[in-house]
Amino acid sequence: MSGHHGHAAGPMPYTRARHLLHPLRGLILSPTALARRLDLPPDAAVLEIGPGPGYFSVEIARAIPEGTLWLLDIQPEMLAMAQERLERSGIRNVRYVEGDALRLPLEAGSFDAAFLVAVLGELPDAAAGLSELHRVLRPGGLLSVTEQVGDPDARPLHEVRRLLESAGYTVERTFGRGRTFTVNARR
Ligand SMILES: C[S@@+](CC[C@H](N)C(=O)[O-])C[C@H]1O[C@@H](n2cnc3c(N)ncnc32)[C@H](O)[C@@H]1O
Repeated sequence: MSGHHGHAAGPMPYTRARHLLHPLRGLILSPTALARRLDLPPDAAVLEIGPGPGYFSVEIARAIPEGTLWLLDIQPEMLAMAQERLERSGIRNVRYVEGDALRLPLEAGSFDAAFLVAVLGELPDAAAGLSELHRVLRPGGLLSVTEQVGDPDARPLHEVRRLLESAGYTVERTFGRGRTFTVNARR
């Protein structure tokens, strides 16, 4: 895997998914900390791109008890792992969609919020991915991009901000620092 800009590595192999569920990962960014950063209304329609085995998905689904969390991943094996994890936690307000972030099989303007963690650097065309998300978000909807230290494909904060602005978003708030951060932007 190369971390060079413009040379996306492609999807992380699902056989490595257990690394994403490592208990010490919470020291870098816990699911509850991410849920606080997203600060979702309880009835929100939320899209998570590239949930992998669902490390963050459980907490986010719990934060929207009257809403729905849609999980979209290009690897069905990842979706199956996420589904098992969510069902084990008794969570029902989730939909599972196999698909490509660059061609979302979803309706325009249909989401209040979307988020991705450690995914942007895996997309062969990050700008195209952000435009697709712009299409499916409602006007004023939230797009939250998180990158994490240790991910070989992670993009630096200045580059994520520039990509968001070029795709037509207004950057609203940044959390964290160094190579682990969340950028919240509005469509
Ligand atoms: C490094 S994992 C991160 C998983 C999870 N967000 C986390 O932080 O634990 C990246 C995920 O993005 C997915 N992915 C990569 N390229 C994608 C694409 N073009 N469309 C949808 N999902 C994609 C991968 O299959 C994988 O599940």
